[in-house]
Amino acid sequence: MKVLLIGSGGREHALAWKLRQSPLLTALYAAPGNPGIAEEATLVSLDIDNHDAVIAFCKETAIEFVVVGPEAPLVAGIADRLREAGIAVFGPSKAAAQLEGSKGFTKDICARYNIPTGAYRRFSDAASARAYVEAEGAPIVIKADGLAAGKGVTVAMTVDEALAAIDDCFAGAFGAAGAEVVIEAFLDGEEASFFCITDGKAALPLASAQDHKRVGDGDTGPNTGGMGAYSPAPVMTDEMIARTMAEIIEPTIAGMADSGHPFSGVLFAGVMITAKGPELIEYNVRFGDPECQVLMMRLKSDLLPILHAAATGRLADMAAEWRDDAALTVVVASKGYPAAYDKGQPIAGLPADTERAKVFHAGTALKDGKLVATGGRVLNVTALGTSVKDARDAAYEAVAAVRFENGFTRSDIGWRAIDRQ
Ligand code: AMP
Ligand code: GLY
Repeated sequence: MKVLLIGSGGREHALAWKLRQSPLLTALYAAPGNPGIAEEATLVSLDIDNHDAVIAFCKETAIEFVVVGPEAPLVAGIADRLREAGIAVFGPSKAAAQLEGSKGFTKDICARYNIPTGAYRRFSDAASARAYVEAEGAPIVIKADGLAAGKGVTVAMTVDEALAAIDDCFAGAFGAAGAEVVIEAFLDGEEASFFCITDGKAALPLASAQDHKRVGDGDTGPNTGGMGAYSPAPVMTDEMIARTMAEIIEPTIAGMADSGHPFSGVLFAGVMITAKGPELIEYNVRFGDPECQVLMMRLKSDLLPILHAAATGRLADMAAEWRDDAALTVVVASKGYPAAYDKGQPIAGLPADTERAKVFHAGTALKDGKLVATGGRVLNVTALGTSVKDARDAAYEAVAAVRFENGFTRSDIGWRAIDRQ
């Protein structure tokens, strides 16, 4: 099968690395890709926002299957365009991608199909949003409705903080994404991510993971795209997984089909394990970054037929096998991230891949044949271990070999699971 992978981050490097191992693959292309992905795929310099150009490339090259990594092209409708052109694609339609593209849409689906989540209201003006917060009190959570690069959520511990977040949203801090605001009840518990593939009818549960969103050790400082992750997440016991499937994921798949927007692709559920059990925090409609990196390290099965079956309505016959090992990834970021950071700084000393450790490229480029940093998140140093602690030790040992003066990491990835052990 000839496959095109869309995206350029650490998530897509992990997908490319795993797809490359498939005996069903005849050629792998990636657009736009990065130097790590280039070791697995032929890079194509396509503007992925130009859907006509992507389709033209697929036709010229006889691409049979497209795997879309990031959310933005899905929310913009790239999967619909590819399907209209007769090309199989892994990823939801524009209408179904609203599960990530609009927090209000997701909350309405939860309300309609009885899916456990925090109580909420939607607002399109500041005065009524402020009045609601005054009445409800704190803690309370204020969310810009649309895509805001992970920055549109304020978990407000005081009413003043909540009011300021409402004013920011309606003053345009998140552009059109903040024209509507969702206000929801604060959920108390331990957070985890759970991933499930679906073709719109059948569900294939994948695995759990836990991310580290804050930039600093001890979960301090501003939110980032994720500074590290591990899988599995011990809080997602077999019982919590079974309940997440039965109470959250399966009703969502059925509800999306019932409301005329069947969802195919990967459902990435952010859940809070509260005293009542799992409650939905949010959905993403693509793999997590860096959660995908740890999932791909642990997946034993061939990824390509699973993704293709999801895209073509044949998922019911599929199974996924996992290593018992834990996997953990440490993000090496550019100093300054998630605020402004320098670009073009040299990187050297990347440790060679082994059976149990692998460096995925996130924000790198080649300049005059030398590897340089171009992104906030630059490398994802990933390792397997017989426990989260073993995986952590192996990942940090590999990090120590990397020479990147402008880089930094968190030093406590995996702390929650390790404390538990
Ligand atoms: P989101 O972008 O919706 O994932 O929100 C970002 C982060 O805010 C989540 O990962 C949670 O840590 C936190 N968060 C979001 N909604 C809630 C909630 N209702 N209660 C507590 N924390 C929340
Ligand atoms: N690591 C969080 C995300 O991919 O949304």
